[in-house]
Amino acid sequence: MTDNPKSPTGYRVLKPADLEAAHGLRAFALDVLNGLSETPKRLSSRWIYDEDGSRLFSRICELDEYYPTRSEAEILRNHTEDILNRAGVDALDIVDLGAGDGRKTDIVLEAALGQVKDVRYVPIDISEASMQGLVKRTGAKFPRLKLGGIVGEYFDGLHWLSHGNGRRNLVLFLGSNIGNFNKVQARVFLRQLWEALNDGDQVLIGFDLKKDIELLLAAYNDKQGVTAAFNKNLLKRVNRELGGDFDLGAYRHFATYDVFSGAMESYIVSLKRQTVTIRDLQSTFEFEEWEPLHTEYSYKYLQRDIDDLAAKTGFRIVEQYYDNNGWFTDSLWQVEKPSL
Ligand code: AVJ
Repeated sequence: MTDNPKSPTGYRVLKPADLEAAHGLRAFALDVLNGLSETPKRLSSRWIYDEDGSRLFSRICELDEYYPTRSEAEILRNHTEDILNRAGVDALDIVDLGAGDGRKTDIVLEAALGQVKDVRYVPIDISEASMQGLVKRTGAKFPRLKLGGIVGEYFDGLHWLSHGNGRRNLVLFLGSNIGNFNKVQARVFLRQLWEALNDGDQVLIGFDLKKDIELLLAAYNDKQGVTAAFNKNLLKRVNRELGGDFDLGAYRHFATYDVFSGAMESYIVSLKRQTVTIRDLQSTFEFEEWEPLHTEYSYKYLQRDIDDLAAKTGFRIVEQYYDNNGWFTDSLWQVEKPSL
């Protein structure tokens, strides 16, 4: 072990960054190579959220057809006071998973600053562009607020949740972000969240509910084509960051609802037989005419699914809040840990 004299153990533990360097491909490139090599082809929606994608999602949130944002804003306006009262503490860390542009969270922060003595806001988001905008805007709007954001994936953020510092956590997981997970992934994720939290901490989770299928289809197929541009941003990002040559005009966005799985599913469909070259992967990929590329799941829930999920992950449902249409719910859960 003479090549590593500084290490007293005689070995070195490689960090994720080291591994990434060793593999020679960034996580994005690796995922694109895997996804486009599979049958059926797929590309994960998590890569949509670069600067353009995050901006397009903010536009989706303002569309008439995209009801989840409006429904949840209504819930937060009507019930935040109650939610904070139930936390019932003087010192609260509000952890916002997938905060995005953070606009809905404003409603919570405004109320919290009025109701809770000592509030800290910890937004966590995958998009640095979103985080820059959020920190700037939120800092200007609430100068008294203690704010410390994290750019990373949910799981990176989980390690950040405070332990034993006497502060209560209120974790926001809003906007039906949980819908991108399938039912098994959701359960595993929430169990990990439970592990990271302390007894008595609370989680507010936004679930999109099963509803009239026409409303669902319209929400993911808006007339202006913003959702189509959002979905196709995946291809644009491959072109820009990996030297791809996707011809965006030769594909169409398609979204459909699977009544069995309860998921809205988004696809990009090739309109002709074509070959795509991705320079940084030194690879080409063949698309047949009408061949689909899967990009996103957005799972919709029944009340029964929510009860089940809480029971199986160690949480107690404290209260459930609905919009007036009954289309969306924010479910307030409390961590129950047996005292040792
Ligand atoms: C941000 C994941 C909650 O699934 O509804 C919006 C993303 N996709 N329109 C959703 C999205 C198409 C959105 N989430």
